Amino acid sequence: MSANMKLLMLAGDGIGPEVMGEVKRVISWMDKRRHVAFDLDEDLVGGACYDAHGVAVTDATMDKAMSVDAVLLGAVGGPKWDDVARAHRPEAGLLRLRKDMDLFANLRPAVVFDALIDASTLKPEVVRGLDIMIVRELTAGVYFGQPRGTDVRDGVRYGFDTQIYSEPEIDRVARVAFDLAKKRGNKVTSVEKANVMESGVFWREVVSNVHREAYGDVALNHMYADNCAMQLVRWPGQFDVIVTDNLFGDILSDCAAMLTGSLGMLPSASLGEADASGFRRAMYEPVHGSAPDIAGQNKANPLATVLSFSMMLRYSFDMGADADLIDAAVKNVLAAGLRTADIMSDGATLVSTEGMGRALIGELDKMA
Ligand code: NAI
Ligand code: MG
Repeated sequence: MSANMKLLMLAGDGIGPEVMGEVKRVISWMDKRRHVAFDLDEDLVGGACYDAHGVAVTDATMDKAMSVDAVLLGAVGGPKWDDVARAHRPEAGLLRLRKDMDLFANLRPAVVFDALIDASTLKPEVVRGLDIMIVRELTAGVYFGQPRGTDVRDGVRYGFDTQIYSEPEIDRVARVAFDLAKKRGNKVTSVEKANVMESGVFWREVVSNVHREAYGDVALNHMYADNCAMQLVRWPGQFDVIVTDNLFGDILSDCAAMLTGSLGMLPSASLGEADASGFRRAMYEPVHGSAPDIAGQNKANPLATVLSFSMMLRYSFDMGADADLIDAAVKNVLAAGLRTADIMSDGATLVSTEGMGRALIGELDKMA
C-alpha cells in the first residue's frame, strides 16, 4: 500500500479519546519505524459533537467519512446526554455513519489469548486457541423490515416486525464471509432457521448459490441458529467464519465474544460494498462503549481499539504483515503479565491505559 492512506479518527466520548490516544502512539511508531505515513484527520462524534454543534455528527464530518479510506471510531454516549432528544443522542451519530456508509457487513472476531484463558467462563481446554470470525449482516433484516409497528385487529392488539432479505443483500454478505474464510481456516458456517422461517430457506439457498458459483474451494455448512448457540458453548473450536443475519448475528456475536471473557479486548470492523477497484468503505471500532464509570482515569484497556486498528490495516489497506506485528505485540504484552484493571488477575502487573500503550510500543520495538 502506498502512502497517503486517508484515515478519519473519531474518538468520541468517555474512554474513547483515552484508548484512541494509544492508537495514535502506534500510528506514530509506524510512521517512524516502518515509514508508513497515514494522512490522519480527527473530528468529533457523539456527545462531544452534540456539545459543540448540537448534532451527534455534522454533515462536514459525514463528507469526510465518505471520502477517506477508513474510519476509526472510539465510543459514544454517556449519562451526560441521557436527556437529549433521540434524534441527537450520541448513538445517532454512529447509526448515521453506518447507514450513510452502507456498512452492511459487521465483522466480530472472538479470539482467546493464551494469557487470558482464565478470563473465559468455559474450561481452558474448550477455548484454548479459539479464533472465530462472525460476519453479521448489519443493514437489513428484521431490524429494518417493513411493515413494523402495532395494530388492533378484531379488538386484539398486535406488535410486529418483518424479517425480509433481498437476494443481493444475502449475496454480498456471503461473499464477504467466503473471502474472509479464504484468508483464514477456509470454512464458512451459514446460520439461519430454515426449519421454521421462509426467509431462512431463502438465505440458505442464496448462500449455497454463491458458494457453488464462486467459492467451491471453501468448506460450507449450514446450521440452525439455536444449534449454533449451543455449539458455540459446547465446542467453539469447530467454527472458522460464521455468517448470519442481523438479528441472529446480534445475539451470536455477543455469545461468541463472551467466550473470550474480556470486553476490553474485542475489536470490530464494519465494511461496505466494494467498488470496481475493490475499495470498500469501512469503519473500525471496539465492541465496548464509552465506559463512563472509568472515563478520565487512565484505567481503560486500549487493546480492543488497537486490535480494531490492526483489523483496519488488514482489511482496508492489505497490510497483513503490519497487522500481524501489532497482534503479536498484543499477545506479548499479555504474556509478559501486563494487565489493565478489567483483565487483572493474580500475579499479574497492573498498568494504566498509557502504561499498556507504552509496553506495546516496547514490544513492537523488539520485533521490528
Ligand atoms: P460499556 O462497554 O461502556 O461498559 C461496560 C462495562 O465494561 C463498564 O463497567 C466499563 O467500565 C467496562 N469497560 C468497557 N470498556 C472497557 C475498556 N476498554 N477497559 C476497561 N473496562 C471497560 O457499556 P455500558 O456501560 O453499557 O455503556 C456506557 C455508555 O456507552 C452508554 O452511553 C452506551 O450507550 C454507550 N455504548 C456505546 C457503544 C458504542 O459506542 N459503540 C457500545 C456500547 C455502549
Ligand atoms: Mg464501540
